[in-house]
Amino acid sequence: MSNGDVNQSRRRFLVGATSVVGGVGVIGAAVPFVASWRPSAKAEAAGAPRSVNVSKLEKGQQVTVEWRGQPVWVVRRSEEMIANLEELRDRLADPDSEELQQPDYIEGPHRSIDPEFFVVVGICTHLGCSPAFRPEVGPPDLGSDWLGGFFCACHGSRFDLAGRVYRNVPAPTNLEVPPYRFADDGDTITVGEDPEDA
Ligand code: FES
Repeated sequence: MSNGDVNQSRRRFLVGATSVVGGVGVIGAAVPFVASWRPSAKAEAAGAPRSVNVSKLEKGQQVTVEWRGQPVWVVRRSEEMIANLEELRDRLADPDSEELQQPDYIEGPHRSIDPEFFVVVGICTHLGCSPAFRPEVGPPDLGSDWLGGFFCACHGSRFDLAGRVYRNVPAPTNLEVPPYRFADDGDTITVGEDPEDA
């Protein structure tokens, strides 16, 4: 399935989506890890894929799944958040992600299969802290020109809402985008598996 097909699939789903959540996934931005999703310890150690249902994730929210012992964030971006990605280019160290920190099928400023859903490993590329999700625009502590992103309090690295690192911060590269795919139902993301057509 092409990226376009995926997007079409998502659009079709979103038109009618209201309330159905599959049995595997659970949504809740305030729930960092959900133990019931966990495969066996043996499977987890081997890096088993992890699935999350995103049908009830609201725009501007983030949900976390654990994959290979790391937090992986799924952020549902609003139209404004997606548009702001274009505004930041001059303030970023690697706006086109030339330092490969993502699978080949992840392209564009949004660094995702579907621009609305951003999937990223939540580990700072400096020394491994986990940055904070800061989606708000212009908060006092980050400045009036902050358009939303991820802030690593350990040493002050900043990333936009596509995980692209700002210039002149300690982190050397963009945040890592893991392999992932959308299920045919369009509302489940599986982290750790490539799309069938990749
Ligand atoms: S670990 Fe994130 S800035 Fe140092």
